[in-house]
Amino acid sequence: MKILSIESSCDETAAAVVVDGREVISSVIASQVEEHKLYGGVVPEIASRRHAESIVGVVNEALEKADTTLDDIDAIAVTHAPGLIGALLVGVNFAKGLSLATKKPLVPVHHLRSHIAANYISHKELKPPFLCLVVSGGHSHIVMVESYTKMRIIGRTRDDAAGEAFDKAARTMGIPYPGGIMLDKIAEKGDENAFKLPHPKVDDAPYDFSFSGLKTAVINIIHNMEQKGEEIPKADVCASFRKAVVDCLTKNFIKAAEDLGVKTLVTAGGVSANSLLRRELTKACEQNGYELYMPDLSLCGDNAAMVGSQGYYEYLSGNIAPLDLNAVATLPIDYRE
Ligand code: KG4
Ligand code: ZN
Repeated sequence: MKILSIESSCDETAAAVVVDGREVISSVIASQVEEHKLYGGVVPEIASRRHAESIVGVVNEALEKADTTLDDIDAIAVTHAPGLIGALLVGVNFAKGLSLATKKPLVPVHHLRSHIAANYISHKELKPPFLCLVVSGGHSHIVMVESYTKMRIIGRTRDDAAGEAFDKAARTMGIPYPGGIMLDKIAEKGDENAFKLPHPKVDDAPYDFSFSGLKTAVINIIHNMEQKGEEIPKADVCASFRKAVVDCLTKNFIKAAEDLGVKTLVTAGGVSANSLLRRELTKACEQNGYELYMPDLSLCGDNAAMVGSQGYYEYLSGNIAPLDLNAVATLPIDYRE
């Protein structure tokens, strides 16, 4: 089954052609990052306008690169939630137009589910059930993936998402948006024990995360040093902060796996590109005898190939949308089976 997939939930306009959920024939991404960088973060109004300008070209390019036409496509999958509403609406409306014109089924895809599905592309043998650490700019979850479409939330952040915390800490140090990637690179040269930072825990919720106190602690360190006119040892601050975030993510994830008796662990989302997180989880899984799957670096961030993968499994589960499908800014990952 050949799916044309579309993604526009944040600041990437993307389209792909994917066969049977696993084989990517083409994948095109138009990133707006350079423009949002000027403002230190994503400006929703600008994002929507750029999606509207780019979507026709991106979809055409995905079809051309796949050497295919709409006649050969079996279904159209689109990210409909969660995300920036104006941004999502561009992809959703475009997909609805295509579905109406071609009479092909329209498949709605949850953005976080698609991040998980990036692993089905990177690891052809991977099948549910498994435990997944979903860490993106907007979400941090530990999810039990019971089947391709049945998800159970085991833990979640009580405040900031991991990616958001990385971006805000980076911004305080003058590192341009999206700071998480750069902070990770700078941290490689720093001393992770240079600054003592809290490792916040949530009472009575051992799998939940809380990053806002940690973020405030690092921001206070930077501001105090600035007030005293001291030079910020950026690499050491980045390394100490990254270590604290990664410790919290790794600890809760491994504890959840132990308690649930799950032996297959998976990561998903933009933050799963973090080099320390990848190293620490690899180590922890080797020590515990767990199998670990992480998406290829090229599939950690937003793309449409992962939407085509999850779209295939949503289609098989009967998730086909009517033409009044709407975009939704907030939708839990377990909204349906
Ligand atoms: O999944 P994603 O591309 O978009 C959302 O769905 O939010 O995640 C983007 C987030 C940003 O906060 C970005 O800074 C973060 O992932 N990120 C990283 C790294 N690469 C991307 N954070 C830490 N280390 C990285 N290497
Ligand atoms: Zn994402």
